[in-house]
Amino acid sequence: MTAIVIVGAQWGDEGKGKVVDLYTESADLVVRYAGGPNAGHTLVVGGEKLIVRLIPSGILRANARCVMAQGMVVDPGVLVSEIDAVEARGCSTQGRLFVSDRAHLILPYHPLVDSLREAAAADGTRLGTTKRGIGPCYEDKASRRGARLGDLRDMKRLAQLVSRSLEAWTPTLRALGGEPPSLDAIIEELTPLAKRITPLLADTSQLIDGALRRGERVLLEGAQGTLLDIDHGTFPFVTSSSAIAGGACVGAGVGPTRIRRVLGLAKAYCTRVGEGPFPTELGGPLGERLRSVGGEYGSVTGRPRRTGWLDLPALRYAARVNGLDGIALTKLDVLTGMPELKVCVAYDTPSGRTREFPIDEIATAQPVLEPVAEWSEPIDAARSMTELPAAARQYVELVEKETGVPVDVVSVGADREATIVRRNAFA
Ligand code: IMP
Repeated sequence: MTAIVIVGAQWGDEGKGKVVDLYTESADLVVRYAGGPNAGHTLVVGGEKLIVRLIPSGILRANARCVMAQGMVVDPGVLVSEIDAVEARGCSTQGRLFVSDRAHLILPYHPLVDSLREAAAADGTRLGTTKRGIGPCYEDKASRRGARLGDLRDMKRLAQLVSRSLEAWTPTLRALGGEPPSLDAIIEELTPLAKRITPLLADTSQLIDGALRRGERVLLEGAQGTLLDIDHGTFPFVTSSSAIAGGACVGAGVGPTRIRRVLGLAKAYCTRVGEGPFPTELGGPLGERLRSVGGEYGSVTGRPRRTGWLDLPALRYAARVNGLDGIALTKLDVLTGMPELKVCVAYDTPSGRTREFPIDEIATAQPVLEPVAEWSEPIDAARSMTELPAAARQYVELVEKETGVPVDVVSVGADREATIVRRNAFA
């Protein structure tokens, strides 16, 4: 019985698609447990790119079954178009993709509210959301009026639920200058989508339990990252779901005793998309260099990502709140030839210097940066630590020393093969 969790250790976009895809080779079931179409996993297979936002990245591996669990919020139109895109690549989803009937439905007024709110927000209060309706949909869930995917089985009941939710949102929409969509139009749009989605619906907690009882290997895939978690992130500049490893238990309906390992994904530097504190952020040509070499543009929104030095206190924080016992360090190759290479080792706060990530004083804390040795040789052909230049190897060792967590995987290029695997997560 083996369930492992793979979780983003920074602000999302740590390269989950590639690492999850790598581990899916030895997984029987890949489960996404939180978030919705705000995530975007770019998969590169044989030089070809495919971006999935809802379907777990394991879908391209014929051996794996994929689950979208009840912690997710699902835009039914996006789901159906992703299924079509995956199938167009000759990759069948039949009998391989299961969606929780308890996941919540993103309805057309959710992205509308999200966008109008962002447009109306004063500077300093704008969150920089993906405008995919994530926050408003989770708000419906928390206020116990949302519609769930299982409700697609009964369009009459669904119409009642949508009507109740629409009524609750109407004053907000009007106050923001928007016009609520008509109930009839929503139901008309949902009817053909319901026909496509209902055959995929399942009690996914039970499905995962069955797989674990049969001794199958289950990979629970987080979305976004630790610092965007609703409880443990840089609130209020966070998403609306549990992005940390603990969220896997809640979002997938798996008890904590069933989880054997937690692997954290961290980029060799940091990025953030959207608003909010980012203490090691680099402006100027160095920041621009990281962005262009790393291809740091949002896969969902196309927004340029903010870039900065690796934040070791933040990684220690992620190791703590997720209980990390392995790290996959991604995009190390992007640092090749990076001038003035530095990492953040501590913070200066009004109460003194700390090695902790000062989550409650993050807006005013000053990062303490230290230079580290640079390397200029390309590293994308390295398949073992000994093939890395000494300075790159020292960089990986520094991460291990500073976090107390072994680096299991080092990604040295975008392709699946450009990876140093030191320990398989299922081993
Ligand atoms: P929301 O999840 O669309 O509500 O956005 C809230 C915050 O999370 C914004 O700063 C987004 O840019 C950020 N965010 C949401 N999903 C992702 C992701 O998959 N990667 C990186 N940032 C994300």
